[in-house]
Amino acid sequence: MSTYLVTGGAGFIGSHLVEALLRDGHTVRVIDNLSTGKRERVPSGAEFIQADFTKLDEIAPHFVGVDGVFHVGALPRIPFSIEHPIPAAEANVMGTLNVFVAARDAKVKRVIYSASSSAYGAQETLPLRPDMPANPLNPYALHKYIGEKIAEQFNRFYGMETASLRYFNVYGPRMADEGAYVTVISHFKRQKKEGKPLVVHGDGEQTRDFTHVFDVVRANMLAMQSPNVGAGEVMNVGAGENWSINYIADQFGGPKEYMQGRPGEARHTQADHSRTFELIGWKPSIRFPDGLAMILKEEGLV
Ligand SMILES: NC(=O)c1ccc[n+]([C@@H]2O[C@H](COP(=O)([O-])OP(=O)(O)OC[C@H]3O[C@@H](n4cnc5c(N)ncnc54)[C@H](O)[C@@H]3O)[C@@H](O)[C@H]2O)c1
Repeated sequence: MSTYLVTGGAGFIGSHLVEALLRDGHTVRVIDNLSTGKRERVPSGAEFIQADFTKLDEIAPHFVGVDGVFHVGALPRIPFSIEHPIPAAEANVMGTLNVFVAARDAKVKRVIYSASSSAYGAQETLPLRPDMPANPLNPYALHKYIGEKIAEQFNRFYGMETASLRYFNVYGPRMADEGAYVTVISHFKRQKKEGKPLVVHGDGEQTRDFTHVFDVVRANMLAMQSPNVGAGEVMNVGAGENWSINYIADQFGGPKEYMQGRPGEARHTQADHSRTFELIGWKPSIRFPDGLAMILKEEGLV
């Protein structure tokens, strides 16, 4: 059994990962400043350290004795990164650099970085493959892409094992449901419960590859264990199918209200996950219509 450190372990994806690692019998340490995360999401079996990874001195001591790091923490909000580019870059770029430096100095063997499909931006063809040139369309996307490059260079210059997982629109239990930057599924959930029309930005024909959080967790665990990665490889973690916002609204049912589209967001995303399968043996296990149906059922909306 190993000792793992999860940054952002009080967040949506991080807290699911912590649960899974504990279930497998590992020792887990969580670093989170609770900016968007919640303390009660961290399972009692994990050691919780409230610290800010924009401050290297604050986090460095906690990397000692750790076998592997999952760098999941970030400020993952596109509008926030446009409105507040400096704090967003401090968290997503400098924070990431600090995590890698702390890991290097503590001689951590491997770091798995939570990257983002937003690095693709607009591409001419689908599905999206990691060998396509990156084209980040907003500050958040750029920051996340820089993180991949940091991961790659820490392997090249310091011999640390690293790999990056580009997640595609993650959904599932505990996804963000409050605050200014909520995902479309959570928005629809709230609007439906309040008996309001479902607000669609743009024409609603933009599509996303929605990926269940349980599949994202599994990809992280495979990437940490696999003998085939460690040199900064970039892999897609996406279900491989794209669904329109109108499709999702129709599953919720009821009237829709169309509003102005959002700037700086890709029109379509759809993952080609063949490289992820080749390298770490990962394939998605939950199709979006099934995952969405589970949410609608749990919320009493069907
Ligand atoms: N949710 C998605 O659809 C999605 C898609 C692609 C990539 N990602 C990436 O996955 C990761 C997790 O996303 P999430 O949806 O769970 O977000 P989240 O906001 O729920 O979790 C992020 C966590 O990081 C913590 N954090 C932020 N800044 C910090 C700092 N300076 N120091 C310490 N902790 C800090 C927050 O408190 C929070 O608990 C992020 O790196 C994000 O970029 C998410």
